[in-house]
Amino acid sequence: MIQRKKEKILITGGRGFIGTNFLRYIFSQADFSGSVVNLDKMTYAANPSSWQPLVSDKYLMVEGDICDQKLVEDLFAKHQFDCVIHFAAESHVDRSIHGPAEFVDSNVRGIMTLLEACRKFWKPDGQNLFVHMSTDEVFGPTPEGVLFDEQACYAPRNPYAATKAAADHLVAAYFHTYQLPVIIANSTNNYGAFQHPEKLIPLMLLNMLQQKELPLYGDGKHERDWIFVEDACAAIWKLVQRGKVGERYNIGTGKTCKNIELVETLCEMVAAQTQQDVSVYKNLIRFISERKGHDRRYALNSSKIQVETSWNPTHSFMQGLEKTVAWYLANQDWLKLSQNQDYQLWLNKNY
Ligand code: DAU
Repeated sequence: MIQRKKEKILITGGRGFIGTNFLRYIFSQADFSGSVVNLDKMTYAANPSSWQPLVSDKYLMVEGDICDQKLVEDLFAKHQFDCVIHFAAESHVDRSIHGPAEFVDSNVRGIMTLLEACRKFWKPDGQNLFVHMSTDEVFGPTPEGVLFDEQACYAPRNPYAATKAAADHLVAAYFHTYQLPVIIANSTNNYGAFQHPEKLIPLMLLNMLQQKELPLYGDGKHERDWIFVEDACAAIWKLVQRGKVGERYNIGTGKTCKNIELVETLCEMVAAQTQQDVSVYKNLIRFISERKGHDRRYALNSSKIQVETSWNPTHSFMQGLEKTVAWYLANQDWLKLSQNQDYQLWLNKNY
């Protein structure tokens, strides 16, 4: 089995949800002794500035845009990265439905800038690695009873998914055309600490705490394959160390849950932790009009990463959810801070 060692890592979007968790993860790993530069634009989705998730003399935060070619090239020249782990992206499907342009900028033009910098600064000696964090949404809806593997056809059906598919194709093209050493990770829905309260789980928790309605699109029976973010971070780290260059890997659990079942479970967990009757929360559930282009089901087969890197998720859905609910209840200030002005304006305009 390959065992790569990466010492000078550029992480993009390290103040976002998965990036924040990933930074905390690698700095807690005994087999990482290197340094990290985190390039993050600090958009509405970034962890609030007053919240310092990581302090280390081997960590440098740079506020800036991955589309800024000069900045990206200056960072490559100065830090001589041997690895890029690319998390930065516009990621919220609802936002992409209301305004796709920003998604094309960050998710397509942004990755181009990074790939071009790698091509310019990296020698073709196989010493470097570009890992691209992508999504299961690029494959479109998974039929009932099926788990998509890495051979699934691309069929993105909302603007967000389309920009991630474009990014995946660019990454694959740079491998085939320029032999750039790349790995693509297609992940299912992550959940856990530090997720922006525009996404289902933190939004439901925040609304429960504020006694606001819990809006579920359509009949609430859409299914997602949920992976605890710490398990997803462990998978990415395994790919950095052991993934095969030029390959794509799915990251998920292969088990799905309907949105309504998930929200009812959250109501039960919050009721237990706040010593309230569960009906206080369940009565807040409202079925609202369907999200445009809403895919019914996503589910991935992740046996390739399991076999090739010996990664396995270590949290069951219930264990991950318990930890997640406990984290948000203990960090209600974080939830409220993350609900910044931009988000409020957006919500008022679009709901
Ligand atoms: O599948 C991976 C993808 O998961 C990631 O690539 C995306 O970046 C991430 O945003 C997520 O996309 P989803 O659209 O699945 O996540 P979201 O949390 O927005 O919604 C999860 C499900 O819950 C989906 O079926 C829509 C539904 N939903 C969501 C919200 C925010 C509701 O019914 N009501 C809501 O208010």
